[in-house]
Amino acid sequence: MMPKFPFMEFNEKTISTNLGTKVFGQRILFFKSIKSTMDYAKKIAERDEPEGTVVIADYQSHGRGRFGRIWKANPGENILMSIILRPKIPLERFSIFPFLSAVAVAESIEKNANIKVTTKWPNDLLINGKKFCGILMEASITAESGDFIILGIGINVNQSEFPPEIRDYATSLYLSTGKIYDRTELVKDILRQLEINYENLNKSNDFKSVFERWKKRCKMLGKKIKVIQGGKEITGKAIDVDDMGFLLLEDDNSRIIKLSSGDVTVLK
Ligand code: BTN
Repeated sequence: MMPKFPFMEFNEKTISTNLGTKVFGQRILFFKSIKSTMDYAKKIAERDEPEGTVVIADYQSHGRGRFGRIWKANPGENILMSIILRPKIPLERFSIFPFLSAVAVAESIEKNANIKVTTKWPNDLLINGKKFCGILMEASITAESGDFIILGIGINVNQSEFPPEIRDYATSLYLSTGKIYDRTELVKDILRQLEINYENLNKSNDFKSVFERWKKRCKMLGKKIKVIQGGKEITGKAIDVDDMGFLLLEDDNSRIIKLSSGDVTVLK
């Protein structure tokens, strides 16, 4: 299919030019079309690909979201990338990375698109209550190439239409602001923001402040919500997100329940 915005070149060369990072995006593997950047990044990470390598595509035929769902995105209009990380922190603290990434992407998008971005537990970014970005983290524990994480980031940038089943919940930067964005510039800025945040965490070990920044953007805390987890439905008040990324929910019997994952709907 012909790209809709052929005037804006988007490939490893344009993204690498003046990127200015030390680690994130020092190696970029760009694909016109790929099954999923997650699978490719995992495959190469198992063979010692360095931290910061970015696998990015114009189109994914089998893009995936959380819980094995399909992540659909029109060709040539969006950001679809996976980044290899080899964190030096204990495995049980890896849950920070989707939150850290959400904050970095939110700050970058707010700056570039001049629009308010909110967070939704666990890993969504919203504009006016509609999702435009999903983050997927997959961790691998291997003896051969060490523990690593693949951080998948999908951002609806210039897409102008969504399938009927998600139309009410999904948006893009274009639909939210009426402007077309140069994906190259956005990706560069996101990689820079990710690197700054990742470096800061490595230096400071300040997990708390990452969650505080994430929570400042989160509109569901204090509200009555419904969570679907493993086919089970739980309702209650969203109390907090703790420093491990668990959602604390107060159920109708005033019991506090800790949730590690799930699909949240804010109730009226
Ligand atoms: C979600 O909200 O469910 C997470 C969506 C993550 C989508 C991105 S797009 C780039 C990377 N490759 C994939 O197959 N998925 C992630």
